[in-house]
Amino acid sequence: MSGYRDPLRPGRQLYLARALRAAAVDPFEGVEKAREKLAAQYERARHGGTLAPPPGTYRVEAGWEQRLHELCGEAWPCPLAGEFSRLWSDIVETMSRRGLRVGRQNYGGDDDGDPGLVRATWCLTRHLPATTIVETGVGHGVTSRGVLEALLANGAGHLWSIDLPPLTISARTPEIGVAVPGDLREGDLRASWSYVRGSSRRRLPALLRELGEIDLFVHDSRHSTRNVLFECERAFAALRPGGFLVVDDLDGNRGFTRFISRQPQADWIVAEADDQQRCFGLARKRASPKHRNG
Ligand SMILES: C[S@@+](CC[C@H](N)C(=O)[O-])C[C@H]1O[C@@H](n2cnc3c(N)ncnc32)[C@H](O)[C@@H]1O
Repeated sequence: MSGYRDPLRPGRQLYLARALRAAAVDPFEGVEKAREKLAAQYERARHGGTLAPPPGTYRVEAGWEQRLHELCGEAWPCPLAGEFSRLWSDIVETMSRRGLRVGRQNYGGDDDGDPGLVRATWCLTRHLPATTIVETGVGHGVTSRGVLEALLANGAGHLWSIDLPPLTISARTPEIGVAVPGDLREGDLRASWSYVRGSSRRRLPALLRELGEIDLFVHDSRHSTRNVLFECERAFAALRPGGFLVVDDLDGNRGFTRFISRQPQADWIVAEADDQQRCFGLARKRASPKHRNG
């Protein structure tokens, strides 16, 4: 998030040394980071110094959860609501046992999944039901935990999580995926999880080629226009009809609005996070591209 400085970030010289070393060890990721920075500078210059979409770009839907359930052909109020409430309490407890809260700017400048985002992802995994799921951006693993628990309850499925950890802030490494307890990571084969290290630019295309078709995609990695557009276009092409994209933090970049404006085959909803600080998007792939959103 702009203006925020990670308290674990080293001083300027050590930071630069680590950034250069990381780029030397892995030139692809080094060049990719530079491209992202250049794209953001260009975007700021074109849009009066801001990366955010113009006010009014998104109309938040007050009844987003009901609409989501309608799109899935499921009953509303959700009969599984109590199950999710208990899961959320468990997630908060897992984090607190590790001395962590759940919230915004909690993994450096990055946010943990908001309960609304995790609930939407959990509900989609339970209701579709989704068996082949890809997410980008693990951080503490709050969204990963939600999906894995839903897979466990469904009794089938696999989650692939693409994640590029902060290369210059090694002190964050032990925190990766801490919201997912050991028994879910290693024990139960029904809820299997693959951690795929690297940027989505590098890992997503090959992973999607390997998987062929996916049921659900969750974006929670780098929230730039360039990256969101890239991930949405690639993932949507791999989505089965009736499958969904979930895209966090729409309000800080133009990626989702550009994706939607070019995509005639999506029904989409803009939802507000439970803490009302940010919003996220949900897009379902229609069976046929004939009708646009009304
Ligand atoms: C907002 S956090 C994810 C929060 C997580 N979903 C949760 O609920 O706890 C963003 C994560 O994306 C990672 N990341 C940043 N840029 C990335 C990229 N280009 N590709 C993949 N992961 C990236 C960050 O290191 C961080 O782990």
